[in-house]
Amino acid sequence: MFETLKTQPADKILALMQKFREDPRESKIDLGVGVYKNAQGVTPVMRAIKAAEHKLWEEQTSKSYVGLVGDPAYSDAMIKLILGGAVERGNIAAAATPGGTGAVRQAFELIKMANPSARVFVSDPTWPNHISILNYVGVETVTYRYFDRETRGVNFDGMVEDLKTAVKGDVVLLHGCCHNPTGANLNEVQWKEIIALMNERGLVPMIDIAYQGFGDGLEEDAVGVRLVAAGTPECLIAASCSKNFGIYRERTGLLMMVSNDTAAQKLNQGTLAFLNRQNYSFPPDHGARLVTMILNDDALRADWAAELEETRLGMLGLRQQLADELQRLSGSDRFGFLAQHRGMFSLLGTSPDLVEKMRSDDGIYMVGDSRMNIAGLNADTVPILAKAIIDAGV
Ligand code: LMR
Repeated sequence: MFETLKTQPADKILALMQKFREDPRESKIDLGVGVYKNAQGVTPVMRAIKAAEHKLWEEQTSKSYVGLVGDPAYSDAMIKLILGGAVERGNIAAAATPGGTGAVRQAFELIKMANPSARVFVSDPTWPNHISILNYVGVETVTYRYFDRETRGVNFDGMVEDLKTAVKGDVVLLHGCCHNPTGANLNEVQWKEIIALMNERGLVPMIDIAYQGFGDGLEEDAVGVRLVAAGTPECLIAASCSKNFGIYRERTGLLMMVSNDTAAQKLNQGTLAFLNRQNYSFPPDHGARLVTMILNDDALRADWAAELEETRLGMLGLRQQLADELQRLSGSDRFGFLAQHRGMFSLLGTSPDLVEKMRSDDGIYMVGDSRMNIAGLNADTVPILAKAIIDAGV
């Protein structure tokens, strides 16, 4: 029977990880997968995570099942972190999921269950796995213009024009902050305009927020998602703890359904539990428990926030250094966008051929669409990258 299976396309980001591992050059630089690395090239276990794990090891007396949507204390803590007080807790249904991708997948399934003819509008470009999962689940995808290849900022007029073609019941997928792969983000005024447009046309927002705290700060990065949650009749929010808690392999995410109709919460909560049961039953608990312990303990939370802030400032410093170095080498300001972008990524905006050239000539690994993981750099490798970019003729 299984001989009927077809070879599936490899995920480009993960395939690049493999290629990098196989490259024997010592000077190679990994700007591929979205994993934070410090100046020594290490993805550290955050201090607060270590401390929480230690405490958990001492205190935990059972590994029995928790609940189909995970521990409610985890949902409460994450809702506070992401939404602050923007929406009444009673209007939010939430379920723990295996990572942010688990939340994204469940959200797409919910869309299909609720409205099989809904189309999901995604930014051009978006995280490739959004499109891959949508195709797999069988939901139609439409792209809206987002990245301006001239300015390397947001093509806001194009975005608005394209979203005006969406019809009632369609879904608009937005990145909460630190847009992946471009690094170009909406400002507060633009968020408000998009919200008005979605409300006017009866569109349902879905926010993917995987990098809170990596852009302008924990509170600042939540501005858009809070405006959407408070300003639209209903929305979906898929959140990840992989990056901001550094617990990638623990698979820790949360899916929220926000509704301004309190009566909908019970139905939504039950549907999230049902979906978890169908797909994997109980979500993983270890990472979620650590996150809950950290967010509910003043000292652990302060230490986590301080380490996250160091991480964020480190990436901002690297952005500035790279922009300055490129300005020096090119004698122009055309790379200034690198210092304006926020989060782990910047889309350089060059061709796959030049990306390939930098890989073969200089051992620099960025994703084929020219997405660079800024956290893959350090003060010593920034000048090497800048030179390679100029030598390649970008
Ligand atoms: C990325 O975009 O590189 C990360 O979100 C990791 C992944 O799963 O693709």
